[in-house]
Amino acid sequence: MRDNSHIVLVAFVLIIVRVEAGLVDLSHTLDENANNWPIKGFKRFNHTDLKVYDQDGAYFIAKDIAMTEHIGTHMDAPHHFGKSAWDLASIPIENFVVPVVKINVREKCAENRDYVLTVQDLEEWEEKFGEVPENAVVLMETGWGDKYSDTEAYYGTGRDIKADDFDYDAWMTELHFPGFSAELSLALLQDYNIAGVGIDTASIDAGANAQFQAHFTLEANNKYGLENLCCLDKVPESGATLMAIPPKMTGGSGFTLRVLVDTDSTFAYKQSGKITSGASQTVKVYGILSFICLLLFVM
Ligand SMILES: *[C@@H]1O[C@H](CO)[C@@H](O)[C@H](O)[C@H]1NC(C)=O
Repeated sequence: MRDNSHIVLVAFVLIIVRVEAGLVDLSHTLDENANNWPIKGFKRFNHTDLKVYDQDGAYFIAKDIAMTEHIGTHMDAPHHFGKSAWDLASIPIENFVVPVVKINVREKCAENRDYVLTVQDLEEWEEKFGEVPENAVVLMETGWGDKYSDTEAYYGTGRDIKADDFDYDAWMTELHFPGFSAELSLALLQDYNIAGVGIDTASIDAGANAQFQAHFTLEANNKYGLENLCCLDKVPESGATLMAIPPKMTGGSGFTLRVLVDTDSTFAYKQSGKITSGASQTVKVYGILSFICLLLFVM
């Protein structure tokens, strides 16, 4: 009898690849520890029982909730920085299911916590993967998602946000975390047709940029911002589809939401009419492995 152990091995690898592919959750858990930009008077996440019934095996619960719009993993609607820019209810739905352009600058950010994403970083992505697809979301991976629950490491200042005498203006001068450069924000607006940008820090602008140039450039011109993302290391640099679907809230300047990436799906790339060379790496790997498996089987 033939030794079939190599087939089993390849099949095993195939199963692992399969399990690692698929949906990735880019959202932090929403609870009372959620990060929240500390604008004076902001409401922390407050989830209270409104009605509870728990008797004779029958159960019912409904809760009340109070929080700011910009809590935890959330979308900044363009209206956040533009008076007549789209509120949540006005963003076209095709902007919620979009091709992913992910730029990994973890190492640069580890060396310099004020690192800003440059036009050159984007051009390097394009050299590898081709043109930025229409209606893409540009994700900046800084590695800051891992620091989310450590306020000092996340914002770059140990000042206590929860203190009664919290000084917002002083806090603003102490922030140090990476973000999108003003120059790249302008290029993304003028030379590309993106749906929005996203980052695994508290703000699309770097902490040291007190002028909020990325916000004013992009959001005021109908590009959304995804902030406090997590797990960007699990997202392919190209070829995946991101889904970020906020509530259809009239007047909303932003909202916490679930952000998912389908690493297998080139759906949004196809919609945008551009499948780049780097598209759908997972599907390719899966296809090649399946082929090897088949070969071994028929041999
Ligand atoms: C949370 O909400 C409840 C119910 O509205 C309220 O009684 C309580 O004071 C709130 N807690 C905080 C910390 O705001």
